[in-house]
Amino acid sequence: MSSDARAVDSAERASAPQPLSGRRVCLGVTGSISAYKSVEAARRLEDAGAIVDVAMTPSAARFIPPLTYRSLVKGEVAADLWDPAAPAEQHVAMGRRADAMLVAPASATTIAKLAQGIGDNPVTLTALASSAPLVVAPAMDAVMFAQPSVQANLELLKARGAFIAGPAIGRLASGGQGLGRLLEPIELAAAVRSAIGRSVGDLRSRHIIVTAGGTREPIDPVRFVGNHSSGKMGVAVAEAARDQGAAVTLITTQPPPQGRYGIVVREVQTALEMQAEIQQAARGAHALVMAAAVADYRPAEAAESKLKKQDADQDGMTLELIENPDVVASIDAPKLLKVGFAAETDDLIANAQSKIAKKGLAFIVANDVSQSDAGFQVDTNRVVILDADGGIERLPLLHKYDVGAAILDRLRRLPSWA
Ligand code: CTP
Repeated sequence: MSSDARAVDSAERASAPQPLSGRRVCLGVTGSISAYKSVEAARRLEDAGAIVDVAMTPSAARFIPPLTYRSLVKGEVAADLWDPAAPAEQHVAMGRRADAMLVAPASATTIAKLAQGIGDNPVTLTALASSAPLVVAPAMDAVMFAQPSVQANLELLKARGAFIAGPAIGRLASGGQGLGRLLEPIELAAAVRSAIGRSVGDLRSRHIIVTAGGTREPIDPVRFVGNHSSGKMGVAVAEAARDQGAAVTLITTQPPPQGRYGIVVREVQTALEMQAEIQQAARGAHALVMAAAVADYRPAEAAESKLKKQDADQDGMTLELIENPDVVASIDAPKLLKVGFAAETDDLIANAQSKIAKKGLAFIVANDVSQSDAGFQVDTNRVVILDADGGIERLPLLHKYDVGAAILDRLRRLPSWA
């Protein structure tokens, strides 16, 4: 079996993460061509473990037949207040049992009704009957979205604790480009995860900094010294922390990840840039999870223009490297709990253990990167958590999201976390 095939096989064995397991989400759909995205959002929410109920306005039902949702979701679909076959007071039951309500797409009319407390259709009535966190994802023409009335209604909802998700800038059904496009389903699902975390998560009112990806140390404007880190482990930790309600700053060398609602992303390239960003974010932060693969050395000088082949000596080329600071050790914030990672190919435990004291870590997460189903590039990881007292916890092969959740769980159990 090829190493790729082994990695796929193992990824299937580590069951998919279920961040919304046991949660009930009410999806409110209003009249907009973008309602098709809410179908995909419903599926994503259920794939993440939620049971989705759907409430639709009469105009939403003109765009997407209620049967589409009925065939797709595990919950109920309320599309007609006067349907004699529907359970009595269905909107009240749906509103009460919801852990979050997502209105996507939210038209200008529905936003106004939500702001004013008007309940005249299954969506607005369910929202009125619910005390769960409300996520509003506007979708409309850019001129409509910019109207002071729409903005004032959104401000009102925000002031009352609603989460406003989007809109994005992009192609609009009304023609042209502008700010008014419904967020993509992955972002809508992320917004629900964030809203539930902020309302009941174990990390509410905590700030966690996570680093991700391999640093890139420039040789010249087109080349760099780097490594194979994909940033997946750090992103997974950031998502898990967001889902538990933490304020999260993700400092990464990779493009901002999809599904990042609720995560503040700072893009960096080099170890020195990463160090400066962490130091800035560290004030008031509770923990730093250092999943980035920091290059230990950088070129002594980065050439200002592209190096040409003839610039090299006849015998090849010598690149002078100088040492980077140890970023995690250098961060000066007395109350910040630091978690390190150790990617090793030999003597995993001894090598990782020696880094705990040297770098001032609360604990270290070690993994053997010579395995094909763990470490760089793949979605799974098999790690050992080592603490300062010599404690060793071996975790099975898990999705990186679940490794992230285990790391956060351990952080929460530290006496100094309280
Ligand atoms: N780290 C860091 N700054 C560096 C090197 C590493 O902050 N210049 C962090 C990594 O992000 C990781 C931990 O330290 O959380 C361990 O990284 P690793 O590369 O295993 O440690 P090194 O100190 O570089 O040791 P070596 O490469 O010799 O194994």
